[in-house]
Amino acid sequence: MSGIDLSDRTKVLAIIGQGYVGLPLAMAAVDAGWSVIGIEKSSSRVEQLNSGSSPVEDISNTRLAAAISAKKYFASNNPEDVSAASVVTICVPTPLNDAREPDLELLESATREVAPHLSNETLLVSESTSYPGTLRDVIIPIVDSLKPTATTTLYFASAPERVNPGDPVWDQKNTPRLVGGIDEESQKRALAFYNSICDSVVATSTPEIAEAAKILENTFRLVNIAMINEFTQLCSAQGINVHEVINAAATKPYGFMPFRPGVGIGGHCIPVDPLYLTWWARKGGQVASLVERSDEISNEMPIYVAERALALSKKSASTQKVLIMGVAYKPGVGDVRETPASALRAALVARGAEVAWVDPLVPLWEGTKPVSESWECDVAIVATNQPGLDVKSLLARGTPVLDCTNNYGELAGVELL
Ligand SMILES: NC(=O)c1ccc[n+]([C@@H]2O[C@H](COP(=O)([O-])OP(=O)(O)OC[C@H]3O[C@@H](n4cnc5c(N)ncnc54)[C@H](O)[C@@H]3O)[C@@H](O)[C@H]2O)c1
Repeated sequence: MSGIDLSDRTKVLAIIGQGYVGLPLAMAAVDAGWSVIGIEKSSSRVEQLNSGSSPVEDISNTRLAAAISAKKYFASNNPEDVSAASVVTICVPTPLNDAREPDLELLESATREVAPHLSNETLLVSESTSYPGTLRDVIIPIVDSLKPTATTTLYFASAPERVNPGDPVWDQKNTPRLVGGIDEESQKRALAFYNSICDSVVATSTPEIAEAAKILENTFRLVNIAMINEFTQLCSAQGINVHEVINAAATKPYGFMPFRPGVGIGGHCIPVDPLYLTWWARKGGQVASLVERSDEISNEMPIYVAERALALSKKSASTQKVLIMGVAYKPGVGDVRETPASALRAALVARGAEVAWVDPLVPLWEGTKPVSESWECDVAIVATNQPGLDVKSLLARGTPVLDCTNNYGELAGVELL
């Protein structure tokens, strides 16, 4: 296996999925002395990883290449390689299906692929975000039905990943890790594993508590962002500057946490995970009505932003050219998954506008390429404050700008959301 040091099985980790979660975990584990096999379904990604080129912003090529040349890391698309590991973590996507309900197909197929190769005394951990009960009711039954007959002793835990891509402060090492083992021995082993990598590990009494906590964290963000976006629309209609209101409220030293308005919610987590909660609630005969309404408000926000932007020009909407600045779902990353810029563009196009975009970190978006910032437009919308955006040049040309990021409010010609 590419010369990687597998001599001590107790220090070999296999990670299923080498994306935003799996690769940073791999590098953190290498730093902690583990030999890591990154199991990845995409052959092109395996090739890219083994050539020392990192597909995620948080991991530099230098760091990846150093792990490879130290023979501490290699990527593979062969699930059989998990047999060399004492710990296997699953870090595959858990998206929504077309009905906007949990789609566990990737999680289930990853489990099906590795289960026949799990050897005795292996700890299998799910880091993927999902509804409470996923480890116990989905993963373990698959493993039990497909594991080798000689494999009688396996350990299971849920340890939902909390990584925040692009965050310069919080990473795998210093973010406290929730760990919920299926039984006492699983918990003991899972705690030992994460203690070897993370500064702080928090034991939960069951995997379901850890799974539910992760969903709570992201639902907390959805609901608060939706609330501030609704509040922004109320303030704007009454001629009140919402940013001043938020700053004023934030002077309260306790019991308030500022959230800022924006185009909407994006990324793999905040728009998705709360719908695992709403689905789970309905499955249990209940309705998470506040969460469902928050999801609706979030989906309405890009339409509100489109209408606010089009109102900045005297021309009719159908003759306007609109530039969206920053299409990644948040600054500092090129990740466009679930970006609210998509719904914004759709809302502008639906009103007849011609829409183009710029984003220094995104070379291609939904099959379209960026334009140059000198593209003549009637209105520009700062959707995400990517480093390198040149808002001043647009203003110098007299183009009105709607800033949804609260970064350019001091400049003449800029309207804040
Ligand atoms: N991205 C985040 O900010 C973040 C934060 C916390 C938690 N999470 C959760 O972590 C999980 C993974 O998310 P991500 O952002 O890393 O996804 P990602 O798309 O960046 O990476 C997942 C990788 O898994 C690979 N993959 C899929 N099926 C596979 C299989 N059967 N075998 C091997 N590889 C397979 C994909 O090709 C991809 O490279 C999700 O449940 C997500 O909700 C993500």
